[in-house]
Order: sequence, then structure tokens, then C-alpha cells
Amino acid sequence: MPLKLDDEVLQINDKTFEIFIRKEEIQAEIASLAARLEADYAGKEIVFIAVLNGAFMFAADLMKQFRSPCEITFVKVSSYKGMNSSGRVDEVIGLNTEIKDKHVIIVEDIVDTGITMEKLFTLLSVEKPASLEIVTLLHKPEAFKGTHTPTYIGFSIPNKFVVGYGLDYDELGRNTEHIYQLKGETR
Ligand code: IMP
Repeated sequence: MPLKLDDEVLQINDKTFEIFIRKEEIQAEIASLAARLEADYAGKEIVFIAVLNGAFMFAADLMKQFRSPCEITFVKVSSYKGMNSSGRVDEVIGLNTEIKDKHVIIVEDIVDTGITMEKLFTLLSVEKPASLEIVTLLHKPEAFKGTHTPTYIGFSIPNKFVVGYGLDYDELGRNTEHIYQLKGETR
């Protein structure tokens, strides 16, 4: 059995994970993030851009608690080898919303090294939004190498692998309400 869900312990393939952040804590933190965003963006035209796949659950719960009018759209970040350059080319897939002169908030599940965020910042800045900020549920400050520290952070966590609530291990484990970490590791 590749995946076993029983709430307290999550077994995925060869790895055993235990609860790290409970669903109640997650929802309380999302409520406070939503309240901060509402206050900071009062009267402004907002477009939330959630990054698939990991942010789907966080984005859904954040939207349920965010009480002001807003748009939400979902994108993927892709990196492919260019035809005539030695490096890789990054692109945002699925952005079909006009963001020029709008206040854009990127919604991420986790900012780890910050490389994904950095790419998105560069690619979205070209579209000339009025402002561009990041809200992330999780942040690993010890792993972070980027220049744009997320403005809105749910939980700053140690540099250890976590899974659940949208985050995967080998594409499994996204469908849990709690966030888990490898058994034996301390918070
Ligand atoms: P980055 O290193 O900040 O670019 O993060 C890239 C992506 O790696 C994130 O959007 C997640 O999908 C994934 N990721 C980073 N850390 C973890 C983790 O602890 N568990 C699961 N996925 C992770």
C-alpha cells in the first residue's frame, strides 16, 4: 500500500510522517493572514495567483476566509531548455488574467530556496502589476537563497521535509488536513 492515512501518522511508500502542524493551527493562522490582507489591501483591486499543485488547498481555505472582493487564478511554473541558449527558460503557464495595474498577491504553499518565487517575480513583473507580494503558508528561512522575502508568512519552519495539506512526497500525501514531517524529527 503506497499511502496510509490515519490522521496521526502518515505512511507514504517507505517513509513514516507524524503530525507537525495541526489543522486547527493551520486554519487559525489562515484567518489571521486573511485579516491582515484585508486590512492592507482595503479598497484595492486584487488578483490572487496561486501556484499549482501545492497551493491548491491553502488557496481554497484562504479564499474562504478573505471577505473582500478579489479575483483568483491558478498557474504553474515551468522550466524548459531553450533552443539557442545554454540556460533554461522559465514560463508561467495558465495566466489568462490581465494583471496590469492590479495588485497581485502570489499564493504559495511553501517558500524553500525561494527559486520558484524569484522566477515568478521576474515573469509577473513584466506584466506591470501595480504591486506584487507573496503570501506563503510555510517558509524555510534556513534554506532561503532569494532576494524577495515573502511579506505574508504563515509559519516559519526548520529546514526539514514536510508533507500534507497540498504538499506532496512522490506526488502522494497532498490530501490531508494536517501538515506532517518525517517521524523522529523535532520541531
Ligand atoms: P523553492 O525551493 O522555494 O523554489 O520551492 C520549490 C517547491 O519545492 C515548492 O513550491 C514545493 O512544491 C517544493 N517543496 C519545497 N520544500 C518542500 C517540502 O518540505 N515538502 C514538499 N515540497 C516541498
